[in-house]
This record gives sequence, C-alpha cells and structure tokens, in this order.
Amino acid sequence: MKFGWRDPSPPVSVEAWRKKARWRLPNMAWQYIESGADDRTTLRENCAGFERWRLRQRSLAGVSQPVLAATMAGEQLSMPLALAPTGAAGISHWTGDIAATRAAERAGTRAVISTAASYTLEEIADATDQQHWFQLYPFGDRGRVKRLMERAEAAGYTALFVTVDVPTLGNRESERTSGMAQPRIVTPGRLLNLLSRPVWLYRLLKHQRIAAAHYVERDPQTGTSALEGVRRAIVGAADDAARSADAQLRYMQSDLHWEDLAWMRDNWGGRVYVKGVLDADDAEQAVDSIGVDGVVVSNHGGRQLDRALASIDALPAIADRIGDRAEIYLDGGVRRGTDVITALCLGADGVFIGRPYLYGLAGGGEAGVASVLDIFSTEIRRALILMGCPDVASLDSSWLLPAPGASGA
Ligand code: FNR
Repeated sequence: MKFGWRDPSPPVSVEAWRKKARWRLPNMAWQYIESGADDRTTLRENCAGFERWRLRQRSLAGVSQPVLAATMAGEQLSMPLALAPTGAAGISHWTGDIAATRAAERAGTRAVISTAASYTLEEIADATDQQHWFQLYPFGDRGRVKRLMERAEAAGYTALFVTVDVPTLGNRESERTSGMAQPRIVTPGRLLNLLSRPVWLYRLLKHQRIAAAHYVERDPQTGTSALEGVRRAIVGAADDAARSADAQLRYMQSDLHWEDLAWMRDNWGGRVYVKGVLDADDAEQAVDSIGVDGVVVSNHGGRQLDRALASIDALPAIADRIGDRAEIYLDGGVRRGTDVITALCLGADGVFIGRPYLYGLAGGGEAGVASVLDIFSTEIRRALILMGCPDVASLDSSWLLPAPGASGA
C-alpha cells in the first residue's frame, strides 16, 4: 500500500479524461468543445442511443486474443477507430492536431485533419510518419477549394472527407454566451476565468495556435521586444480567432448541391467520403450517382441540426441500403469500447471519435490522446473476450439484442 496526496494514475475512462479536461480549460474553451445545438437533444441522444442495445454474451467460446485489426479508408489499422476532424484543436492544447495525429499513428490508426485545423496540412505531414486523411469544408469558391485539395494531395493525404452538414452554423448557445461568439466581449468574469487557467493561457498566447491555420495568414513575430511580443500575442490571438470564425462563415457554401460533390469527386485522385449523412436516400445518391467510396453517418456531434437523428439510430437504415457496396463509418457519442462494437454490429465498418480525443488532448497533450486510444482498444478487446467473439470482422446484428423496453429500431 502507498500513501500520497493524490493518485498519480492516469484517468481510466473517457469520462475520467472528460473531467480532467473540464478542470484544465477555461470555460470559453470548454464550451467550444462541449457545446451542442439548441436544446442538445441530438447531442444527448448520440450517447443515449447506444444504451438501447445489449450485447450477446456467448460463454465457453474459448476466445482469449480477439483480433481488432480493421481497414478504414483503405488503410490497415490496429482497430476500427480513428480520429474525427475537429477545428481549432489548438484551443484544447497548443500542440493540437500534431499531437493528436502523432498519438493516432503510434496507436496504429489515423486522423482526419480538419479544414479548420490549428496547424497546416503541410506542418502536420512533416511532423508525422504516416499518410492521413483530409476533411474538406466545401467553400463556394472553387478556386480556393481546388487549391486546398491540391495542397492536401501534394502533402500525401490519401482520402477526402467532404463535410456536408454545415450549410450554416448550428445554434450553439453555450458557445455564444461563454465569449466564443462574435463580437468577443471581455467581461471581468470572463477575464478572471481565463486567468484562473494560467498555464493554458500562457501557452495559448505564446504559441498562437487558436486560429484555423488555413484561413489566417499570420505575420512573422521575430525581432519584436518582449512587451511588443505580449501585446501582439494578445491582440493577435483574438484577431486570429475572430478572422477564422469570420472566414468560415463567409466562405461556407450554403447552397451546396450534388453537382458540387461530383466536382470534388472529379478533382480528387484518392478515395472520397461524404461526412454528415443521416438519410438513406442521401447515402444511396452519394454512392450510386456520385460514386463516392463511402459515407460517415454523423450529425457533427450534435452541433448542427438539433432534433436530427442520433447517429447510431440513423445507421441501420443506411447500412441496409448501401452496406453491400460502400464503406460506412459512424461518429457521434462513441465513448466506450462497447459503443464501437454496437456500431459495428449495426453495419458500420469503423467509427470516428471527436470529443473523446479532445478531452485527452486538453488533459494531457499527446500522451492524453494516446491514453484515450489505449482505453478504447483495451475496452474493445475486453468486451470481445467477454462476449466470446473472436474478431471485429465477425460482428453483425446477430450479436445484438434490444435492451429490455427498447424497440431496437
Ligand atoms: C467538430 N466536428 C467537426 N467536423 C468537421 O467535419 N470539421 C470540423 O472542423 C469539425 N470541428 C469540430 C470541432 C469540435 C470542437 C467538435 C467537438 C466537433 C465534428 C466531428 O468531426 C465529429 O463529427 C463529432 O465530434 C463526433 O461526435 P463526438 O465523438 O464528439 O460525440
């Protein structure tokens, strides 16, 4: 037995990393990560939907070393789970996308890099060993989109994920009332809150990784006095963040149509996926008419249309319609290894996580993301042993039962 003022062991679950992240971040940054649209119905349902299913437990199956390896977007991964794109990851921790992507590849998986990433595609490619994937916000300006796609291809990104569920920004009220909205208003309360997280604030000002790197050109900061550096850091960070948000809204194409997707398909050499599909008719059109390689069943983590279907509830109909001829991925509400298993049983080929790795990033940088990924792989492995299932490839609806009282629909 040992005695200590605090237990030095790392958090044991995604929920424990969530609590750590909450503690590390000022309210404004926390609300940016956690917020959901309107009344957060879809945000809640994304997690709650998994609870309506139970896993079959086959005893005496002799499974001691289940196989987790899976293919996602053409890559052989250690498990059927990868990192979803999240804009402004530098708000969680200044090392942002680079730390998260490094942790992903150390765990044998990959990351989708957001158009609104805190580091550029080239910076991330230079700092990592594997080829990753690029998420595109389909801005109306095709020249701009084409340049971004060319940069991604030149830097070695192998798959394009086109996000189609942001024709306008969702109503995230807690984000707006915490100081993340435009115009940014500094109140004494908000300032005190920021100052109560001095390490986070110092790193933010020093490294200036709050903005979306692809939207904002930053001036070189060399040759300035210390005082001028601090002034520019404060003003620059606020300006960068404001300009990123403005740019995102200004360039976003609200009348996005199927022809735009076809154009992106034609202008990208690798695999193409549509992210943000919840309807089986849309999934079918994307696959059969446009020829995309697959879809990501997603509602943007409950941040866009509130009262949209939870991802796990939308999955079965989509799997039924296109599962025989296209790849299907899911994100939204995945917090446990058993959630990953449930999604695979309902027809997903793999899942993405968003907030869970941001909790790890905020709470522990690259090591925090690595820990979250390790928690997922350990939980998947343990659950498969307990279920008596030899590998993730065997998971199908025969492994699921509706929870007592749930319709299972
Ligand atoms: C996102 N998401 C997102 N999606 C996208 O296509 N481009 C982006 O830039 C972002 N940015 C972003 C920021 C933050 C803070 C969050 C939480 C989410 C959505 C993301 O890719 C994914 O769909 C959800 O995060 C999945 O839900 P969970 O895992 O967070 O429940």
